[in-house]
Amino acid sequence: MHTQVGIIGAGPAGLVLSHLLHLKGIESVVLENRPRQYCEERVRAGVLEQGTVDLLCEMGVGERLKKEGLVHGGIELRFGGKGHRIDFRELTGGKTITIYGQSEVLKDLTNARLAAGGQVYFDVDDVSVHDFVGNKPKIRFARNSKPEDLTCDLIAGCDGFHGICRPAISQALTIYEREYPFGWLGILAEAPPSSEELIYAYHERGFALLSMRSPQLSRLYIQCSPEEDIHLWPDEKIWGELHKRLESTEGWKLIEGPITQKGVTGMRSFVAEPMQYGNLFLAGDAAHIVPPTGAKGLNLAVADVRVLAQAIVEFYKSGKRHLLNQYSATCLRRVWKVQRFSWWMTSMFHLFPDASPFDQKRQMAELDYVTSSRAGAQTLAENYVGLPM
Ligand code: APR
Ligand code: PHB
Repeated sequence: MHTQVGIIGAGPAGLVLSHLLHLKGIESVVLENRPRQYCEERVRAGVLEQGTVDLLCEMGVGERLKKEGLVHGGIELRFGGKGHRIDFRELTGGKTITIYGQSEVLKDLTNARLAAGGQVYFDVDDVSVHDFVGNKPKIRFARNSKPEDLTCDLIAGCDGFHGICRPAISQALTIYEREYPFGWLGILAEAPPSSEELIYAYHERGFALLSMRSPQLSRLYIQCSPEEDIHLWPDEKIWGELHKRLESTEGWKLIEGPITQKGVTGMRSFVAEPMQYGNLFLAGDAAHIVPPTGAKGLNLAVADVRVLAQAIVEFYKSGKRHLLNQYSATCLRRVWKVQRFSWWMTSMFHLFPDASPFDQKRQMAELDYVTSSRAGAQTLAENYVGLPM
């Protein structure tokens, strides 16, 4: 088998890249080691930046997103029992975010790739990358237990944090990393969202977040220990904790409903530099992880592959590697700004086990500043809706 660009991973990064290349007449093959259904049903974050929405629409995969996505013009920061709205439209010159689950984005992208005759192979095994320092990179894998070789000009490692591409070039990478002493316990509940917009709550018992997937489906999170055992959290205990942490003195009520999914995720900040070695390019979670406070993971993955697609188009058009050589540096400027924002949001809202009384007072002052100063609120708003490309 031969193709122009071999893409490993059918997450947002791999599928957006494949479709962007297709629209420019460049052929790719996507290799994914999980079944299609697993990829499409995995519950992940659900906030799309304006730029991500615009790109998906320009790519022709925005039809359902435009119909079903919930456009939000702000978020609420809640502390001391009171809500403070950050008005994105007013603070950013009309920009908004859209609530639309990553699983829905993946369904739309997979359908678009397959409808266009795209080659996306799910459920493959034993994927490995070879000869990417030279001009004839090769991907080995097994399909239906039969070994195959895919030769290509370039390899895109879009295989997420636990993929094989980053380890394949580990000797060339510098890793920057921070783990947080907490995780998130997240639930999906068949209950209408208790608020029209997302609520980020600071509370002495720990952070809580109210989000949603649709007018019938709530998504909620509470800060927990990174090793929290989900079996020790019956539904009543989760609701009890959510009621306490989201408490309001303003007559607001939390609406409960049957919990259909629950799980615990750890939190980390992680960057591998550079995002390229020879003809192997890393994109999305394969190269970096952000803690979920601020919902940047998917948006950052999409921003990477937008840059990569442009560089690849230029390469095939002119034969020049100029943009390919700049790929890593171009992406990393955005990556680090988004790392900073995600770390800042995380630090502002979570209870750190080793926090001193001074730290806690400072944290409250930061929330007070962000919600009472226009400059403070604007800093949050412009990062949340997405920095310019
Ligand atoms: N071979 C083939 N595919 C692989 C391999 C492998 N060895 N290892 C992992 N994969 C697949 C995973 O099964 C997954 O479908 O690569 C895909 C990577 O997708 P994501 O993890 O979604 O990563 P990415 O596309 O970069 O998107 C980042 O996903 O993790 C969320 O919050 C994060 O929203 C962000 C987004
Ligand atoms: C989500 O809806 O899953 C979500 C929303 C906002 C975040 C993180 C996750 O900051």
